[in-house]
Amino acid sequence: MNKEDKQRVIGKVVAINSDRFTIELLSGIDNFNVSGYDDIHYFAQLNSYVILPYQNYYIVAEVSGVREKDLNVPFSNPTEQFLNKIKTGKFLEVFPIGTLKPKDTDKDIYEFEFGVSVYPALYTDTLYIKEKELDAIFNVRDQEAIVCENPATCKDKCSCKNKRYKTLSIGKSTIFPDYSVKIDIDKFFGGHAAILGNTGSGKSCTIASMIQELYKFKNYSATGSTFIFFDVNSEYEQAFSELTKNNSDIEIKYFTLDSKANFTNTELFKLPHWFLNFDEWVLLLQASEKTQQPVLRNALSIAALLEGKQDEMLIFKNHIVAKCCISIWTASESPVSAGHRINSLLQDYADGDLSKTLLSDNSFNFKYGNFPDVGSKEQVFIDTLNNVIQEDFEIPDLDVVKFDLKNLYTYLDIAILYEESFGNKQIRDYCSSLLTRAKSIAERADLDFLNGEDTKIGEYKKKNLGLAKIENGNEVEKKNQIILFDLHSVVYEVVEVITCVLSRIIYEAIKEIEPRNSYPVTLILEEAHRYIGDDPQRAFLKANKIFELIAKEGRKFGMFLLVSSQRPSELSRTVLSQCSNFIVHRIQNPEDLSHIRQITPHISETILKRLPSIPTQHALIFGHAVNLPTTFKVNEAIPKPKSDNNKVSENWFKPKNFTVYTE
Ligand SMILES: Nc1ncnc2c1ncn2[C@@H]1O[C@H](COP(=O)(O)OP(=O)(O)O)[C@@H](O)[C@H]1O
Ligand SMILES: [Mg+2]
Repeated sequence: MNKEDKQRVIGKVVAINSDRFTIELLSGIDNFNVSGYDDIHYFAQLNSYVILPYQNYYIVAEVSGVREKDLNVPFSNPTEQFLNKIKTGKFLEVFPIGTLKPKDTDKDIYEFEFGVSVYPALYTDTLYIKEKELDAIFNVRDQEAIVCENPATCKDKCSCKNKRYKTLSIGKSTIFPDYSVKIDIDKFFGGHAAILGNTGSGKSCTIASMIQELYKFKNYSATGSTFIFFDVNSEYEQAFSELTKNNSDIEIKYFTLDSKANFTNTELFKLPHWFLNFDEWVLLLQASEKTQQPVLRNALSIAALLEGKQDEMLIFKNHIVAKCCISIWTASESPVSAGHRINSLLQDYADGDLSKTLLSDNSFNFKYGNFPDVGSKEQVFIDTLNNVIQEDFEIPDLDVVKFDLKNLYTYLDIAILYEESFGNKQIRDYCSSLLTRAKSIAERADLDFLNGEDTKIGEYKKKNLGLAKIENGNEVEKKNQIILFDLHSVVYEVVEVITCVLSRIIYEAIKEIEPRNSYPVTLILEEAHRYIGDDPQRAFLKANKIFELIAKEGRKFGMFLLVSSQRPSELSRTVLSQCSNFIVHRIQNPEDLSHIRQITPHISETILKRLPSIPTQHALIFGHAVNLPTTFKVNEAIPKPKSDNNKVSENWFKPKNFTVYTE
């Protein structure tokens, strides 16, 4: 220990437990503060730090408790009480969090490392912490790098003017308000992150302020960044309204589903239904796995086969009606009811070569269920049906194509009939909810976006990634850094479909970009628990597994999730467990707290205990992007997202019959 260190000793280790130790303060330190060279150091604040020399480095420990000895213990005799009072009797409870080791190249510079594998010996000195060490803990060095344009000529003396930043300030430390809490850009935006907290605790503002801060770097801005917002509460347009004015390098693309929106800067969102894959159709129609999904698959194949082809449709329909009729007639049920069923099928579906009145044409007796002269008339009936049956007919493999959504009901109806032609009598009952939904999606105004215009998937992918082909050329250039889908006008079911399909399309697009992993994209998923859920009853819906896939595989291609949620316990575990950084605001629900405890084993109880009482605009960050878990006051979001709490008293106390709005 050097001379300077000796002067900042405040106490000695007097007890060591497995995860914490006790420091007794030197006598003379009455108010838990000491005067150092530079300043008065108050060190007994909870969550503040002290350091303990160990060999040639220091162990950093966080203060978790301050106490005076045995204050509450009644003394049995007056002498004992007297003896106790002359000892200082002031203690700090601390737990080790990391080490400060000198750099190999420069012994004067210390580097902080999270985690401690050794423990100090009993009676080790304890020192208050200095600025220099806090600098190392908060990692305020090496925040920018020069982007050298001529490495060959510049060599060591580069003075190129462009810089790239390695860290992003997200707020100020709660304990050391002079310190900016910074995230390592590579480690935060190069992994998945979760922003958790009760509603109104500041999640959206945190996201907005981070983005605002990033685009404060000008002249050589983060133009290669891509943030895709699924803005379910229509909050962020306001938050980003100043961005492009302040930084002309940045462009934002707005999409809305609200056809009444002001369109100056905004495009009406389209997601052509022929871009949906089968799993996404299942999600859209909530088709159950065993019975409805095979029918839906056939219906979509039939759509691909028959859309716009009237003659083929007729042949196909007659083929399956005839098969149905034969299977009903030959099944051993009552001929009377068979006759009635066949008749209604023919009435509903037969056309062209197949008469709707085939039974009565052949003098079928509906009362007795027979043909007049068994043999010839029945044979004519069977032959007519057989004539329209196509040899070796099979529904082709699924190929999703453009078709008129209004026809979906018909295609499903035919697919059900097809199943019935194999004698599956219950299928129509099992599929009734599917039919109802199919009918409604063609009629619902909020699903109009499914009828997109004739965009090519390649163009669609580019637009959603913020890319555009330059005029009269083959090059594709970067256009937008923020792509914002305003989804506030649609119900959650629809939000779920849109986010799943878009995420899948974007993921596929990123995988195609060369060189691999050169175009990082962050998807911001607000209120994520509503569509990245952990509900086992919905396990049959494969489409929303896209988020789990991105959580697991996205890193390889540069696709990252930033999920924001007030119900972490309802969020998909797979997605949460793949997050490498967490920003946690106030959380009070015990279920959510214990969930956080489970997913983040490296977070101490002391830190978790703080979560229910964190004030608005404050948060705890932990994960790879910061040296150690830190509570901080989040940078002010200016402007704020449109998410203000309702000013109830202001809205209550008003004149009688005040005008609410003018129609
Ligand atoms: N970083 C911040 N800057 C400015 N205001 C904030 C900030 N964080 C929280 N607030 C205040 O708290 C309110 C709720 O924050 P919000 O981000 O909408 O919460 P959440 O998204 O968690 O529901 C905001 O309207 C704002 O008044
Ligand atoms: Mg919010």
